Amino acid sequence: MKRREFMTLFAASAVCCGIRTAESAETKKEELLKWFLDNEYGYAPTGRPDDMKFEGNSILFGGGKVKVNLTVALPKGVSAEKPCPVLLMGDFRTWNNGMREDEKSLKQQRNQNEIDAYATSRGYAVVHYDLNEAAPDQPRRMMIADLKAKGKELPPCPYGLFEVYGGETDRTATSWGTIRAWAWCHSRVLDWIETQPVLDAKRVAVLGHSRLGKTALCAGVTDTRFKVVYSNASGCGGAKLNRMDLPRSEHIHQITRNFPYWFCQNFNQWANRDGEITHDQDEWMGLIASPTRYLYVASGTEDQWAGPTGEKAAAEGAAKAWEALGLKGMGDHVGYHCHEGPHSLTVEDIKLFLDFCDKRL
Ligand code: GCU
Repeated sequence: MKRREFMTLFAASAVCCGIRTAESAETKKEELLKWFLDNEYGYAPTGRPDDMKFEGNSILFGGGKVKVNLTVALPKGVSAEKPCPVLLMGDFRTWNNGMREDEKSLKQQRNQNEIDAYATSRGYAVVHYDLNEAAPDQPRRMMIADLKAKGKELPPCPYGLFEVYGGETDRTATSWGTIRAWAWCHSRVLDWIETQPVLDAKRVAVLGHSRLGKTALCAGVTDTRFKVVYSNASGCGGAKLNRMDLPRSEHIHQITRNFPYWFCQNFNQWANRDGEITHDQDEWMGLIASPTRYLYVASGTEDQWAGPTGEKAAAEGAAKAWEALGLKGMGDHVGYHCHEGPHSLTVEDIKLFLDFCDKRL
C-alpha cells in the first residue's frame, strides 16, 4: 500500500473511531441519566408546555391555574446593551398559601434580601420565586387537610404543577417527585429569562441551599442551558455520597420516610441499601460536565446531617467527568468550599461562589 493511501485510510479510521467514542460517551451519559430519573427523581411529564404564558414578572401554567411570581433584583446600570449574568434560585416565602411570619421564615426572608443586595452590588441579577407556588413542599393529602383545618378555601389547583400536568394522584413508580418538578420550573424561569433583554440568558447560574441545592443540581443536570450549578449543603439526594459510611448523616431510609414526595417512588427501593446503590451522587453531578459548564459545591463544618465529607468527596468524584473530557476538574471546572459553622447559606458563601463565577460566567 502506498504511504498516501495508508495515511488516508488511517485518518478515516481515526475519525470513525473518534465518532464512535463520542457516541458511546453520549450513550453512556444517556443511560446514566435514565438510571437517576428511573431510580431517584422521576420524569417530568412534559418539556416546555404550550399553555405556558408570561405576564410581566409572572409565569402562568394551565391557563393561569398556577401562577409563579418572580422577584427580580437588578444591579445598577444594567441595560439591553449590557445585559447581566443571573443567579436563579428558589425561596420559601409562603406556606399553605399564606405569608409565613414565624421567626424562622422571617429570618430566611432577611437572608434572601441580604443575598440580593450583595449579588447585585457585584453586578449579578438575582431571580427568585417561592417554590410553594409551583409545587407545595408537602404531600398533597396533608396540604389539603391543613387548608381545610384552617378554614381556608381550596385554591383552583392546590397541588400546583402536579394538578396541571399530572404525576401525583396518578403517580407511578417513575413519576416526577417534587424536586424534579421544582427543577422543571427552574427551566421554565430560564425560558422567561430568555425573553428579558437586560438579563443574559447565556450566563445563568442555578443555585440553592439544602432541598433547594438538590433542586439546583437536578435543574443543572436536566437542562444544559444553565452554565454554572451551585449546590449548598444539599446532603442526601444532592451532593452527598450515599455509599460513604457517615453514620451521623441523613440516609435514604430517613429521607424517603420524611420526604417521600421529593423523589420518585422507586427511590424507596434503596432505603437501607445506601452502601450498595448502583450509581452515586458524584456520577449524578458528573452529568453536568462539558467544556463550557461548571459545578460548585459547598458545605458547613457543623452540618453533619448533610455530610460535608461526603459532599466534598462527591465533588471530587464529579470532577473526574471533566477530566475524562481532557479538562481540569477540581479548582477549575469544579469549585468547593466548606464554611465554619452550621447548615446555612450566608452572604460569605455567596461571596466565595461569585469569586468562582466572575471568571467563568
Ligand atoms: C431536612 C432534610 C434534608 C434537607 C433539609 C432542608 O433536614 O432531611 O434532606 O436538605 O431538610 O432542606 O433544609
